[in-house]
Amino acid sequence: MNILVIGSGGREHALCWKLSQSPLVKKIYCATGNGGTSQVAENVDIDILDNNALAEFAKNAKIDLTVIGPEAPLVNGIVDEFEKNNLPIFGPRKYAAMLEGSKVFSKKILLKNNIPTGRAEIFDNAEKAIEFAKNNSWCRVVKADGLAAGKGVYVCDSEEETIGAIKEIMMDKRFGDAGNKILLEEKLVGEEASFLVFSDGKTVRPMLSTQDHKPVYDNDKGPNTGGMGAYGPAPVVTKEIHEKAMNKIMIPVIEAMAKEGTPYKGVLYGGLMIVDNEPYVIEFNCRFGDPEAQPILMMLKSDLLPIIQSCINGTLEEQEIEFYKGASCCVVLASGGYPVKYEKGKLIEGLDKASDAENVVVFQAGTKKQDNAVYTNGGRVLGVTGRGDSIKQAIDNAYEVVKLINFEKMYYRKDIGAKALSRD
Ligand code: AMP
Ligand code: GLY
Repeated sequence: MNILVIGSGGREHALCWKLSQSPLVKKIYCATGNGGTSQVAENVDIDILDNNALAEFAKNAKIDLTVIGPEAPLVNGIVDEFEKNNLPIFGPRKYAAMLEGSKVFSKKILLKNNIPTGRAEIFDNAEKAIEFAKNNSWCRVVKADGLAAGKGVYVCDSEEETIGAIKEIMMDKRFGDAGNKILLEEKLVGEEASFLVFSDGKTVRPMLSTQDHKPVYDNDKGPNTGGMGAYGPAPVVTKEIHEKAMNKIMIPVIEAMAKEGTPYKGVLYGGLMIVDNEPYVIEFNCRFGDPEAQPILMMLKSDLLPIIQSCINGTLEEQEIEFYKGASCCVVLASGGYPVKYEKGKLIEGLDKASDAENVVVFQAGTKKQDNAVYTNGGRVLGVTGRGDSIKQAIDNAYEVVKLINFEKMYYRKDIGAKALSRD
């Protein structure tokens, strides 16, 4: 089969890497890809928000299956466009992708179906929102409704800060129309986990639970990033929490979407907050996480391709999905200054040596291959992903390989996985 993967981050390198191991796969293309995807796929330069150009390419290159990494093409309706053209594609349609594309839509589905989540009120008027925030000290989280490149959530500590956030989103229009509506939400205090499932619209099958590390500095200090590392399985997701996450959250939301007449097919990522041994939804994403995809795909023993096909065909219930025993940990190597200001074009050294390491794969994100060298080309540059019999072993394996790699102003967190170890 010919496959097209859409996106250009570490998640997409991991998807291309995993799919390239399938005996069913003949050739992989990646739009637009990076230095890492070019090792296992042919990079093609197409605007990933141009649905017509992508569909045209898929027809001409005889693509049998398209797999999407990031949320923007899904929210932009790529699945609807491909289905119209009878082109097989993996992911939710535009309306179903609203679970990520609109925080208001998502909250309404949760509240309507009694799915555990923080209390919230919806506003389309800044004065009314400010008035409400003044009178209700429980709402200290302000969320822009639409996609805001991961920056549309403000977790505040005071009334003043909350009002500032409302003004920034609704009056200053920091995120444009994405801030026409907002949620004022209850602040939940607990430990976060990323709980991803596959769904064919009816059946829901869990992946390995993971935990992301969003803040840029050790001990969760500093501004939020796309994710500085991830590991799985996450011990915070005990057997009991896992069952609750499936039965109280993921299965009910898939059922609710089917009931609404908008069945959800694809990967559904539940961003959960575990409070007093109960999981609550803080967000949904309509895709694999980045960097969560890296440890998840390292641990996936089964061929990914038949799983994807079964989601498309509605036969997920019969599909075998097996994960390796043990654990995996991904440490992101970033450009110094990320997520604010950073330089690109630095030569990356040590990748050859790193590729000899057993049980470790270096997934590339913001990189560019030129002649025979690889250069930095983004904020998150590499995801050094180790596997081991235990989480400790996986962490050690990843950090051993980190030592072999260098580029100017390379920065990484030293404590990826520490929360898992502190539970041992
Ligand atoms: P998001 O952009 O939706 O991923 O949210 C970014 C981060 O904000 C999450 O990873 C949480 O750490 C935090 N967050 C979102 N909603 C809440 C909430 N209701 N209570 C506490 N923290 C939250
Ligand atoms: N790592 C968080 C995300 O993919 O949204």
